[in-house]
Amino acid sequence: MAEGIKIIKGNIVFTPSFGQLEVFESSFILIEGKTVKGIYRELPAEYTNMAVTDYQNTLIIPGFVDLHFHAPQFANKGLGLDLELLPWLERYTFPEEAKYTNIAYAQAVYKQVVTELWKWGTTRVACFGTIHKAATAKLLELLALAGLGGYVGKVNMDRNSPDILIETTEQSLTDTEDYIKATVDRYELVKPIITPRFVPTCSPELMTGIAKLAQKYNLPVQSHLSENAGEIAWVKKLHPECQNYASVYHQFGLFGQQPTVMAHCIYNDDAEIALMAKSKVHVAHCPYSNNNLASGIAPIRKHLDNGIAVGLGSDVAGGHEVSIARVMTMAIQVSKLKWLATDKSEKFFTIPEVFYLATKGGGSFFGKVGSFEAGYEFDALVIDDSSLEVSACNQYSVEDRLSRFIYIGDYHNIVARYVAGAKIEQPQL
Ligand code: GUN
Ligand code: FE
Repeated sequence: MAEGIKIIKGNIVFTPSFGQLEVFESSFILIEGKTVKGIYRELPAEYTNMAVTDYQNTLIIPGFVDLHFHAPQFANKGLGLDLELLPWLERYTFPEEAKYTNIAYAQAVYKQVVTELWKWGTTRVACFGTIHKAATAKLLELLALAGLGGYVGKVNMDRNSPDILIETTEQSLTDTEDYIKATVDRYELVKPIITPRFVPTCSPELMTGIAKLAQKYNLPVQSHLSENAGEIAWVKKLHPECQNYASVYHQFGLFGQQPTVMAHCIYNDDAEIALMAKSKVHVAHCPYSNNNLASGIAPIRKHLDNGIAVGLGSDVAGGHEVSIARVMTMAIQVSKLKWLATDKSEKFFTIPEVFYLATKGGGSFFGKVGSFEAGYEFDALVIDDSSLEVSACNQYSVEDRLSRFIYIGDYHNIVARYVAGAKIEQPQL
């Protein structure tokens, strides 16, 4: 019998395209090595004498993708959220991130962070560290030890930053390259990513330099774009030569020259949206953060209609929830406010739509991730939702059960997790 084959049975649910839910009740999923080979209602004869992991009446869904997360802000969840972005960064975020010169502190928090991601069913994460290369390399190591997949960035900041959290241009470039060399070939599922914090904290020389590193090591790029009115006005003042915020990144080689994900994208004009689409930039939609920091409601349906790939992000600690299921419900809720605010022209999201964003939408930034189509890496969550049943009303369809898990379930309902074909247990860090 073929080596490395796994067969798993349950109620299989996923979204091969935006808004299209596929349901295979009581079916088999065949995994060869890291990837899905197929889904079968009846097991083909050649496999019938192989062992099956029978998860019985559970739901089996793709693992959640968090496309925008700040690991060093974990201790700040729920703090300072009566402020808007810029004063929040200055008073809460920068002082907390400055602590990550201390590797013991970093290690202690990052262990907890990785355990929380595992717990809530995040199987892939695009993650910011801090400017500190040692602490950030530790985060990457811990994610790899836990068996999770991700991109982790050493943050770049050489201007408009407080003395406790700033680098010289030269140090920033040297440390970024050291960090890349130390990590780029070290782990299979966790890789470095070029991470300018945002335009206001990165000089033109720095942006040019890290764009060269992105090319040299063939790395993706992550940053923030058009989140807050004060931020956007600041960028305009810093770069009057550019038509808009996106073209600042673009002129320095950080906007689609390599695979790129930008968080927020709330206030882009049509020219910017056209550049985002042309540059194949992914958007990380972070509705909790956008509510908490009173930033606004991102026009996500419009981005999608323009052919832009979108995933969901927790944006901890702008967002206070690690759970991507909660982020899904918040994405629906804010889209309803957007629908009302646009005279019902921008339609609100449905469960199959946000389920796609949380899985295949964000997963596409990682390759063939976030679906159970043949050839996709098998990232999965096994959901035992029996605790959500109402005994007198036992008539939920698989679709209903998925909706109830997303709205009212939590980590207790996640009974098994897989990343790239491997079952991952609670991290022992
Ligand atoms: N823009 C620049 N830095 C940050 C950050 O840490 N969080 C958010 N939400 N926006 C930012
Ligand atoms: Fe962020």
